[in-house]
Amino acid sequence: MRKLSKHLVGLALAAGLSGAMAQSAPSDLAPMPEVKPGNAAMIEMGKYFFFDNRISGDWGVSCATCHDPQKGWGDGKALSTGYPSMEYFRNAPTVLNAKHQKRFLWDGRLDGSDAGTLVRDMLTETHTMNMDSRLLQERLKQVPEYRAMWAKWRKDDINGMRVYNVIGEFIQSIQTTNAPFDKFKKGDETALNTEQKDGYALFKGKANCVSCHNGPIGSDGNLHKTGVPEHPEVLTNPLRTITMLRHYATLGMPNYMNARTDVGAYAVTKEKRDIGKFRTAQLRDLKHTAPYMHNGVLATLDDVIGFYDKGGGSGSELKPLNLSAAEKKALKEFLLTLSGDPVIVKDPGQPDMQVWTTYGKN
Ligand code: HEC
Ligand code: HEC
Repeated sequence: MRKLSKHLVGLALAAGLSGAMAQSAPSDLAPMPEVKPGNAAMIEMGKYFFFDNRISGDWGVSCATCHDPQKGWGDGKALSTGYPSMEYFRNAPTVLNAKHQKRFLWDGRLDGSDAGTLVRDMLTETHTMNMDSRLLQERLKQVPEYRAMWAKWRKDDINGMRVYNVIGEFIQSIQTTNAPFDKFKKGDETALNTEQKDGYALFKGKANCVSCHNGPIGSDGNLHKTGVPEHPEVLTNPLRTITMLRHYATLGMPNYMNARTDVGAYAVTKEKRDIGKFRTAQLRDLKHTAPYMHNGVLATLDDVIGFYDKGGGSGSELKPLNLSAAEKKALKEFLLTLSGDPVIVKDPGQPDMQVWTTYGKN
C-alpha cells in the first residue's frame, strides 16, 4: 500500500510537469503584477518563524541561513551547505517572487501554487531542516509571543501543518520592487537607456532568450536542457554525492546508484528525454543572486552570456548566437534592469521559550 501511494505521488508529479510543459507560453516579459496584500497576521508570524533556528531539528539552521535577505535571499554560495553534516548538490535559489513561480525547485518537482507544500519539504527534508511537524508545533507552543500572535489569527492551538502555510504566506509577500524594467513597461520611456533598450531587443530577437524566459519573473516554468556543466565538487566531494544519490533514491529513480552527475528532472519524471533538464530560472534580481544556475557553476552574468553565446553546453537544445562584444554588454545591462531595490527584511529576533503552565485552559 505504502509502495503504491508513493508510486501514485510520482505519477502525479510527472503529470504536473508535463502539464506545465503543455501550457502556451507568453511571448514577452511582463511587469511585476500588483499583488493583493496577504494575511497580515500570518505574514508577521511567518517572518518570525523564517528567522527562527528552533524550527530545524537540531536548531542548526533557520530558513534565513540558506535564504539570507542580505544575500538576495539565497546563501551566495555556488552549492548549498545543507543541514549540519550535509553538503547539498545544488544551489540555494532566492525565495523572492515565490508567489509568481509556476513550478518550484531546480528540477521543477513542485507546483508553484502550493507554497505550503514547498515549505513542508524544506522543513522536513533531511537535507535542509530535518524537522518533524509534531516537534515543531510543541516547540512553538512554548513561546508565549508565538501563542499570542497565533491567537490574533485563529482560535485553535499552534498546529505544525498550518505553520507551513504561515511561512508560505510570508515568502509569498516578498517580491522584486522598483525595477527599472517595470517602470519602462508601465510607460516611463526614460527608465531604460539606449543600451538597455538594445539589450531588450536582443533578448526578444537575435538572442531569443524570451522563448524560455518570459512572463513577470522571466520563467516559462518549463523544463529545458541548456547543458550547464557539472560543478566539480558534486563529483569529488562524497558529502555532495551522498545528498544527490539520496535525493534520487527518495524519488524512486531507477539505477540511481549509477548517477554521477545531476540528472535534473529525470529523477522526477523517469522519462529519458528529461535527463539533464531543469526548470527555467527566473531572471529577477540577478544583481543580488550570483552565482548562477542549478549548481552555481557560472560565477557572473558575463559567464552566463558567454555560455549562451556558444550555444550552451553539451547536449543543449540551444544554438550559438554569435553576439558581438557590444551586444553581450547590452544584453547584460538589460538583464540588470529586471532587478529592483534590495528587499531587506530584518531578523525580528527570537522570543524566549517559557513552559506553558495553563496548557489546555487558555
Ligand atoms: C540548508 C539550507 C536550506 C534551508 C535551511 C532552507 N532552504 Fe530553501 N532551498 C534550499 C535549496 C538547496 C533549494 C533548492 C533545492 C532543489 O531545487 O533541489 C531551496 C529551495 C527553496 C525554494 C524554491 C525556490 C525556487 O526557485 O523554486 C523556496 C521558496 C525555499 N527554498 C524556501 C525556504 C523556506 C521558507 C525555508 C524555511 C522553512 C527554507 N527554504 C529552508 C536550501 C535551504
Ligand atoms: C531553451 C530555454 C532557454 C533559453 C532560450 C534561455 N534560457 Fe536561460 N535558463 C534556462 C534554464 C532551463 C535555466 C536553468 C538551467 C540550470 O540551472 O541548469 C536557465 C538559467 C538562466 C540564468 C540563471 C539564473 C539564476 O538565477 O541562476 C540566466 C541568468 C539566464 N538563464 C539567462 C538567459 C539569457 C540571457 C538567455 C538568452 C541569451 C537565456 N537565458 C536563454 C532556459 C533557457
